[in-house]
Amino acid sequence: DLYGTARRNSAGADLSVADERQRLIAAIAALETTSLSAGPIIGGALKTGEAVADAKSPSDHKVLGRASEAAAADIDEAFRLAKAAQPAWDRIGGPERAKVLRAMGDALEADADRLIAILCREAGKTLPDAISEVREAADFCRYYAHLAETQFGQADVLTGPVGETNTLHLHGRGVFACISPWNFPLAIFTGQIAAALAAGNGVVAKPAEQTPLVAAAAVRLFHAAGMDPRLLALAPGRGETVGAALVNHPSLDGVAFTGGTETAWAINRRLASRLGPIVPFIAETGGLNAMFVDTTALKEQVIDDVIASAFGSAGQRCSALRILMVPHETADALIEGIAGAMDALVIGDSADPKTDIGPVIDAEAQAALHQHLSRLRREAKVLHRLAAPDQGTFFGPVLAEIAHAGVLEKEVFGPILHIVRYDPEDLAAAAKPLVDRGYGLTLGVHSRLERFAEAVMATVPAGNVYVNRSIIGAVVGVQPFGGEGLSGTGPKAGGPHALTRFASERAVSVNI
Ligand code: SER
Repeated sequence: DLYGTARRNSAGADLSVADERQRLIAAIAALETTSLSAGPIIGGALKTGEAVADAKSPSDHKVLGRASEAAAADIDEAFRLAKAAQPAWDRIGGPERAKVLRAMGDALEADADRLIAILCREAGKTLPDAISEVREAADFCRYYAHLAETQFGQADVLTGPVGETNTLHLHGRGVFACISPWNFPLAIFTGQIAAALAAGNGVVAKPAEQTPLVAAAAVRLFHAAGMDPRLLALAPGRGETVGAALVNHPSLDGVAFTGGTETAWAINRRLASRLGPIVPFIAETGGLNAMFVDTTALKEQVIDDVIASAFGSAGQRCSALRILMVPHETADALIEGIAGAMDALVIGDSADPKTDIGPVIDAEAQAALHQHLSRLRREAKVLHRLAAPDQGTFFGPVLAEIAHAGVLEKEVFGPILHIVRYDPEDLAAAAKPLVDRGYGLTLGVHSRLERFAEAVMATVPAGNVYVNRSIIGAVVGVQPFGGEGLSGTGPKAGGPHALTRFASERAVSVNI
């Protein structure tokens, strides 16, 4: 059962139930009186760390807690402990490791309200997004537990000459650095760690500097769920300092990274200049994701899926829709419909259950979006713009028309949708500037014609294709997620091959 179909994904809270809604609102209110903290967690102990700073909410800039950065000595100790404990963890085998991961899945669900509250406040997630994120984190733990059991249990027996037995064994590589982003600060953070641990490795994890609090909560849960603290350390801090120290560390055996393409290039260069073991680099990076609509598409469905894909999570998903390709014939009607649907979006405090779109993560992200908007005002046509609250770091969603997909050089990370009018009969010409950019993450098609969907798929590279639906929200074990080209190396998160690059293989031939 490669896909773990017997497995159930996490159910999550239901916001339409008044009691559940009230419980989450109370959990958010409780954070006001709780002092949260994050710092290096090494061998299960919270260290003082360096460069202590306030962790603030992007919704209103209120201080949520304090966070400090891992020092070089913390990182050395984390590697030393993990290196020492890893061989035994590897030897106990996948089924035993799966027990700890399942316990972590349960722990995430048991503590869901508090985690949802932290996600809302620290990462500016809306309640539905925060609920989904806790579910996804639990799903990763259980899915990788399933892979650990099925792929790291017994060795594969291979056919060979008579008198010889041949077996293939998977085992952990050693200690992985897991470097994760702020846009899924719990799900991706936990998913990378769970994958590395499931395959028999130790982990030193660096969360994004914007979201250390939820990461610290997750690491404490892992330890409480039975994970040997020596095998999982938290090394919070900046990429330039902590990220660089992890990637340069002589005891490093692999890197799992999710974030921007430029950071992936920088990590790849550092890894390439290391002497010693040649370590795997698993990268999941950005996208310049497009959706191609033809004249047979159902207008209302297109509008719903476009709004969700482009503006959901304030456009801060690597899977989010950036470029909508609309046929000349139906373009005006679609633009009018999308602008109308945008007007119905509620932008505001992410902790309010009515909110559709919360803040962007920080002032830097907000400034980059403003800069891109200025460029669109000069060089393209801004068709619609929503107002946003003054407090915190909000950015009002934008709909803009550009002449062709090549106007965008790289991913623009936020709620800005670019529309291109094109001729579906001449798909290749319209797609070329996009294909030339070299990304390959998500791709959408809206059409009633199978051959049109096939033509789009044959033309535009993408790791995840969605036909007649939104292009966000890949589900663990259902839509294994990850791209190609500038968008990542694979293997896909939440898919049956996810653990392969976290492991080494050993073939054993015994002549009897
Ligand atoms: N896995 C997320 C999604 O599919 C990532 O961005 O939307």
